[in-house]
Amino acid sequence: MQVRLLFPVFALFVLVGCGTDNPFDRGADLPFRNNASPSGPLSFASDIKPVLQVCASCHSGGAGGWVYTGGVDSYNAVLSAIDTIHPERSELLVKATGGDGHGGGSFFSVNSTSYQAIANWIAQGAENN
Ligand code: HEC
Repeated sequence: MQVRLLFPVFALFVLVGCGTDNPFDRGADLPFRNNASPSGPLSFASDIKPVLQVCASCHSGGAGGWVYTGGVDSYNAVLSAIDTIHPERSELLVKATGGDGHGGGSFFSVNSTSYQAIANWIAQGAENN
């Protein structure tokens, strides 16, 4: 009886978890400031931090050795995971797109506004602005 009840519940979780609508997985885009352009001037506080908020669920506990709480230490945490010479090689972007076997999976694709915004913010000097 219990097994027969559990299976549909399990199947539902699998279906919901694998859906492309799930904002936490598989190339979906993350919230990006409405009136901002990912190629225009970007702000760490207004544009980058909100996109990375989703990372804190695992990384506030230091998953994989990268500590990201989304709090006052956010800027230094991000600096430790980016390559300012080659933005696209940044560990942060590689992992966020599910590369290098990211334990957290993929959060957005290379073509997403989230990715473009972060890559451009790095290219603009990765300022704490
Ligand atoms: C569901 C949990 C989870 C979420 C959410 C998550 N991660 Fe991860 N992350 C992990 C795990 C587990 C590891 C360690 C295994 C690995 O290296 O991928 C890891 C490793 C990393 C590393 C490498 C740390 C190091 O020093 O080697 C970086 C950078 C990283 N994640 C960035 C991100 C970013 C950026 C986000 C948000 C877009 C994110 N993660 C969201 C689980 C998560």
